[in-house]
Amino acid sequence: MLVLGIETTCDETAAAVIERREDGSGHIRSNVVHSQIKDHAPFGGVVPEIAARAHVDLLDGLIDAAMRDAGTHYEDLDGIAAAAGPGLIGGVIVGLTTAKAVALVHGLPLIAVNHLEAHALTPRLVAPLDFPYCMFLASGGHTQIVAVLGVGNYVRLGTTVDDAIGEAFDKVAKLLGLPYPGGPQVERAAAKGDATRFAFPRPMLGRPDANFSLSGLKTAVRQEAEHHRPLSPQDIDDLCAGFQAAVLQSTADRLNVGLKLFRERFGTPTALVAAGGVAANRAIRAGLEEVAAKANTRLVLPPPELCTDNGAMIAWAGAERLVLGASDALDTAPRARWKLDESTATPAQFANTRANF
Ligand code: KG4
Ligand code: ZN
Repeated sequence: MLVLGIETTCDETAAAVIERREDGSGHIRSNVVHSQIKDHAPFGGVVPEIAARAHVDLLDGLIDAAMRDAGTHYEDLDGIAAAAGPGLIGGVIVGLTTAKAVALVHGLPLIAVNHLEAHALTPRLVAPLDFPYCMFLASGGHTQIVAVLGVGNYVRLGTTVDDAIGEAFDKVAKLLGLPYPGGPQVERAAAKGDATRFAFPRPMLGRPDANFSLSGLKTAVRQEAEHHRPLSPQDIDDLCAGFQAAVLQSTADRLNVGLKLFRERFGTPTALVAAGGVAANRAIRAGLEEVAAKANTRLVLPPPELCTDNGAMIAWAGAERLVLGASDALDTAPRARWKLDESTATPAQFANTRANF
């Protein structure tokens, strides 16, 4: 099965062609991503209007490139998948409408994919992985622990009560004068800093639920930074190191609880998997390895380029749904908000807990 996937929910314009083989394994035929970071950097964050216009300018060229790289023609495709939300609505409209046009012209089924569902299913594109597994999704917009029970069958075990982890990295970077996007900058500075110099709070530590909270920690970093202004490069490195260490410890604790809740409700997960831009952070990746080892659980970490937003994950989620007989009407609406656990208007047969890989 060959599926073209389109991603335009935030500041990456992306298109990809993936192949899903009969044994359930996946192969990326092409994966073209254009990051708009430099368009948004002067504003210190993603500007929705600029993003939507850039998607309009770039998307058809990227789709051409993805089809060319894959060495495929429209008549070879089995379906067109587009992220239909959640995300910045202008961008979502661009991607979904383009996919509808391609589907209509070539008589192909449209699959309107939930962006979060695509993150959740991506690990199955890179490794043999049965349901049910436990996913840690940490991006600029989302921080969630999710029980992935089957295609279209997700239960959220925990989420952030305020900021997303990536958002906290970005805000800390901004208040320390580091450029956007802040995650990689903070990681780089933290690697040179002393994590013990500042005693930052470890949010939610020991709480029986699996929720996250980042805004108190961010405020603590702000207060400490104000106290030491003007900041030397060493101050900045130490603040970043202290912040990242606090995020790490809090995340490890939240994941321990999440895995415990998973076991109580759904039995032993086949793996702990991670997705989202924050999962590209090396310290966080090492922390996840520790959590998984302690819980005696297999860890599946997609490569960083599949953790951040891309078209392959949308195409793959489309293929996973298409193979189960699902497709969507051409009047499917784009959605700014779309929770994962109300993810899909799913036929009952999707609610399988152990789908065959
Ligand atoms: O998944 P993603 O590419 O886009 C969405 O938000 O959907 O994630 C981007 C987020 C940004 O907040 C960025 O700062 C963060 O992921 N991020 C990182 C790292 N790389 C990206 N955070 C911490 N360390 C990193 N190395
Ligand atoms: Zn994402």
